[in-house]
Amino acid sequence: MTNVTQMNETDRQYYFMEKASGHVAKLGEELGRRPTCCVTTFGCQMNARDSEKLVGILEKVGYEIIEDENADFVIYNTCTVRDNANQRVYGRLGVLNGYKRKNPHMKIALCGCMMQEPEVVEKLRTSYRFVDLIFGTHNIHRLPVLLKQAMLEKELVLEVWSKEGDVIENLPSHRANNYKAWVNIMYGCNKFCTYCIVPYTRGKERSRELDEIIKEVEELKNSGYKEITLLGQNVNSYGKDLNNGTDFATLLEAVAKTGIDRIRFTTSHPWDFNADMIDIIAKYDNIMPSIHLPVQSGNDEVLKLMGRRYSKESYLKLFDMIKEKIPDCTITTDIIVGFPNETEEQFQDTLSLYNYCKYDLAYTFIYSPREGTPAAKMEDNVPLSDKEQRLYRLNELVNKYANEANQKYLGQVVKVLVEGPSKKNPDVLSGYTEHNKLINFKGDASMVGQIVDVRVTEAKTWALTGEQLESNN
Ligand code: SAH
Ligand code: SF4
Ligand code: F3S
Repeated sequence: MTNVTQMNETDRQYYFMEKASGHVAKLGEELGRRPTCCVTTFGCQMNARDSEKLVGILEKVGYEIIEDENADFVIYNTCTVRDNANQRVYGRLGVLNGYKRKNPHMKIALCGCMMQEPEVVEKLRTSYRFVDLIFGTHNIHRLPVLLKQAMLEKELVLEVWSKEGDVIENLPSHRANNYKAWVNIMYGCNKFCTYCIVPYTRGKERSRELDEIIKEVEELKNSGYKEITLLGQNVNSYGKDLNNGTDFATLLEAVAKTGIDRIRFTTSHPWDFNADMIDIIAKYDNIMPSIHLPVQSGNDEVLKLMGRRYSKESYLKLFDMIKEKIPDCTITTDIIVGFPNETEEQFQDTLSLYNYCKYDLAYTFIYSPREGTPAAKMEDNVPLSDKEQRLYRLNELVNKYANEANQKYLGQVVKVLVEGPSKKNPDVLSGYTEHNKLINFKGDASMVGQIVDVRVTEAKTWALTGEQLESNN
């Protein structure tokens, strides 16, 4: 007899996948069709990658994966970085309940960052009693065993570990795209910026072994992938916990040497970004010249209160070093306006920093207090209307410089990884340039998944337009 307790974690989950397959097959017989499943993702790329793993497991146990939430099994992979992310989930749960009333076989599961918050789980238990399964970010790999339980039990199945476990390798995953892939390099975050919930929902930093990452990149390359994005909450601190001298520069170089066409990475934290890393990015043509470098604020006092561990001056020093060593590098950022007690003058410092950096793009947010974080305890004297005004004023700059940045490409020939017909017009192809600019262009549809030369004929704020060159090979 198999002794499940003595298996390693990966084998144990494969064992339960087999068990769960039996239950899914039985449900299929009852329904007279293959049971369907839908995974909806909220939040960042980390969640998107986790969802690929969930889909991989669900497919393996026999579900047909569909996009319609009116399915036999629905999972919401949630985000809680700002309150509006939570509200969206609560709103949509009502709709799911409507589906469930009509489909007695339906099971509803919730996972992801929101589930790591005890008060959220409490609210779901008491006010959303139709939810069948709740699991946390550290329990993703346990979906097989949890699914099996949820299929057998009428009561809520709940498993949220408050502490991160080991990194579990080699479970199934179904990648959302055939040409570009996300590759986790580390999980969690140790930075504890005072406004941010992520270190609480994702646990402490755990780096994957370099060999595992390289193996994954090589497999992707061999199966035709053209682009990978290395994922972590702050990739620049990769390797610190491995204690063997490996750092992000070492990893980047090793990944570059695999020869995969395009390498991207996100997110960079300015604190751990060093000159060695910039040199490696500059040295290898397959590391894309495009860096997301969140600044959050341009005022030193606010940065200090945010716990960001750099000053405006040291951020700009890094920014200038990147622009000097990688002259055509596109730099994008994240900014929070209306941090508790932010004054008009402090906000002006953010605007002046923006005018200096002239970012290619910025994701801008109004500060949202997150329970359990230090900033949530700060009193705040800034009215919401002022915060909205600041966001509006900042976004005016964002749009202005996004447009200016794109004008630079007018008339140039750029390399584009062709993704497929554009969403708006099936006669037009779309893809991203090396600098991560979205481009829609007239071209050869048989080139989907290939990198082609495109001449830029028009530059707008959010996208470029172009024509594929004849001479592509
Ligand atoms: N690890 C990344 C991204 C984390 S979340 C980083 O450090 O850059 C993505 C962005 O959401 C952050 O960069 C920040 O700008 C924003 N954010 C995080 N917490 C927030 C909060 N409480 N309110 C508003 N925006 C927030
Ligand atoms: Fe949040 Fe800061 Fe960590 Fe980014 S670095 S995830 S903003 S705590
Ligand atoms: Fe949201 Fe969790 Fe990502 S809170 S932003 S999904 S790490």
